[in-house]
Amino acid sequence: MRAQVLSPTPDHLALAAHALQRGEIGGMPTETVYGLAGSCRSEQALSRIFSAKQRPTTDPLIVHVNLLQRTLGELSDLKLIELTQISNTQRADLERLIDRFWPGPLTFVLPKHSEVHPLITGGLETVAIRMPRHPIARQLITAAGVPLAAPSANRFGRISPTTAEAVLEELGMEIDWILQGGPSDIGLESTVLAWTEAGELEVLRPGGISQEEIQSCLGRPIPSLFQKKPPSLGPQNQALPSPGMLESHYAPAKPFYVLPAALLSMKESERQELRTLLSQTPREETLGLLLFQGDTALLTSVFEKITGHPVLARNLSIRGDTEEAARLLYAEMRFLDTSSASLLFTEPPAHLDGLGSAIADRLKRATAKAARNSKLW
Ligand code: TXA
Ligand code: MG
Repeated sequence: MRAQVLSPTPDHLALAAHALQRGEIGGMPTETVYGLAGSCRSEQALSRIFSAKQRPTTDPLIVHVNLLQRTLGELSDLKLIELTQISNTQRADLERLIDRFWPGPLTFVLPKHSEVHPLITGGLETVAIRMPRHPIARQLITAAGVPLAAPSANRFGRISPTTAEAVLEELGMEIDWILQGGPSDIGLESTVLAWTEAGELEVLRPGGISQEEIQSCLGRPIPSLFQKKPPSLGPQNQALPSPGMLESHYAPAKPFYVLPAALLSMKESERQELRTLLSQTPREETLGLLLFQGDTALLTSVFEKITGHPVLARNLSIRGDTEEAARLLYAEMRFLDTSSASLLFTEPPAHLDGLGSAIADRLKRATAKAARNSKLW
């Protein structure tokens, strides 16, 4: 293991900032998930980000800024966006959203400035920008004196890290340092918003700010990508509209399935489908169960009775709170993925409002590979 987890002292922040100025990369805490940060002006840093993550260069990165006034003028002065390409109506929406949600888990896809490096945009004419809320992220950006490109600090397609220790597990061999910022508050990536050619606002990736919150800020409905079917990975060297849109993403290494119904309401035919799926799995093998609510002991014994296997369960929120579940989701997926369980299961999402739609989106992608081979969810 090469990487060191650094406590966020002024000395360590200065050390990390200098490393970033030299074109090195490292782990940065944010309120959503940990990022793998590098200077947005350094080609060396940008290529290191892609090779450390084993991420295709067609996947664009998010640029992280720390603005003093939170104005579009500052983004233009930083040579990130092209103001002349932004219409007055788009500008009015943007100013409202920035005022309400920045710093925070909201990313905007905007017309790019000509000096934005093509590795950041994956060859697109737009650039994704967000101002994070985490104090250490903001201090690091300011100390580095340059906006930081930062995808989630996981290997491509895998579970995003919400602790410094998870970054160490994912990328400990590829980087030298990770700033310790404690567990991420929100636990899911930022919401990505874009404008269509026709000037309509749409959610490209549901995340830390819900569609309802955005609609209430703007006073009108906006369409969400979540209602459309995600496309699968396109041919190489063709830019993807948004990599968060990949059918399989955020995924554990073990097969991960969504049950056809909540455990307490599974019909006999659904129980039978599950037993068929497990017919090749030896009885002594443990099944992992990720719960979003309810009585852990009761649900564990129900699942043990249905399947005849020992069950290792983790409950994200006994009282069924979506924010609590979002905060713990990736950490518990990671726990089950490295546990003794050989197959992982979860109940279908019960709540689709607020952060619930982002949770459902991640579950769909985390279970996409297994779903191709089964008749469950
Ligand atoms: O919460 C977050 O956003 C975290 C933390 C570290 O800030 N970052 C993150 O980055 O999730 P990443 O690289 O894992 O996801 C980037 C997302 C993808 O869904 C990508 O498609 C979208 O941003 N994106 C970036 N540039 C884009 C562009 N020009 N057009 C459309 N989507 C873009
Ligand atoms: Mg990611």
